[in-house]
Amino acid sequence: MPGRLRGDARSWYAQGNDVKHVILTHGGVTSPQSHADSCAAAADDALAVLNAGGEALGAAIAAVARLEDDPRFNAGTGSNLRLDGRTIEMDAAVMASDGRFGAVASIERVKNPVLVAAKVLETPHLLLAGVGATAFARRLGFDDHDPVTEGAREKHARALAALGGNGDGDFSSDAARFHALTAKRFWNFDAEPLECDTVGAVVRDAHGRFAAAASTGGSTYMLRGRVGDVPLLGAGIYAGPHGAVAATGIGEEIARRFLARTVYDWLADGVAPARAAQRGVAMFPDVLAIGVLVVGRTGQAVASNRTMASAQLVG
Ligand code: GLY
Repeated sequence: MPGRLRGDARSWYAQGNDVKHVILTHGGVTSPQSHADSCAAAADDALAVLNAGGEALGAAIAAVARLEDDPRFNAGTGSNLRLDGRTIEMDAAVMASDGRFGAVASIERVKNPVLVAAKVLETPHLLLAGVGATAFARRLGFDDHDPVTEGAREKHARALAALGGNGDGDFSSDAARFHALTAKRFWNFDAEPLECDTVGAVVRDAHGRFAAAASTGGSTYMLRGRVGDVPLLGAGIYAGPHGAVAATGIGEEIARRFLARTVYDWLADGVAPARAAQRGVAMFPDVLAIGVLVVGRTGQAVASNRTMASAQLVG
């Protein structure tokens, strides 16, 4: 039986290897447990794919697409605005245990970046970025979609206020915004993201195939063109014959630690999923919010050092 081994902010699950499928979903580190309803719905969507004969990859993609459609999360509709207050650039990635990988970075004006990433996986490329990624989506019939929400506007105003401005013109030029972001004397906020981060899913199907998928509107304080961990192979997600991993937190910190591939390598070395997840979170200082989903051959785990809405389906 899966069990909760730690408190609200750090949840660990373990499971024997006599299961048909495992689905784990999350709404981003710092997301409140009150958002777990959407994670459960996303897991249900993934299960429907498996029940229809689909593989782990399709299930993980379906789960993340559902989470992208919930404006409470920083992915798809509801994504964070860049510091310019106008631009939304989104990253998404998918990976299967046979090595197939597809990603988009800084894609604009699509409803479900994860579905575009899934199409990149069918091309000879790993990652499409910027206007090329958006043009690729249009070519494949993805409609124009404005992902800006009132919640994103409010969050942007709070981000500017936290940087030292008042959100109504103190950072009216790119240069001022850049200085606000980079000059230490302006960093009068703590290292916490304002709320929510990447959404993600990991899946093991009845045939022992693994997959991971993730999508994000980026971090709270970011320049145009900034790309986080999600589309960087091995940083935000990884999947292979030993399992699948999806991370959430500040992308630069995750990428520096090559988190998803590092946790995966521990699985490959025989480390239990719960232990691998715990070690992954422990790589980060407490001031950095971080979370991981891990599924391996012998079990699965959800670990974070903050609240993180999540759900699991095991059958
Ligand atoms: N983890 C999402 C990002 O930093 O872009």
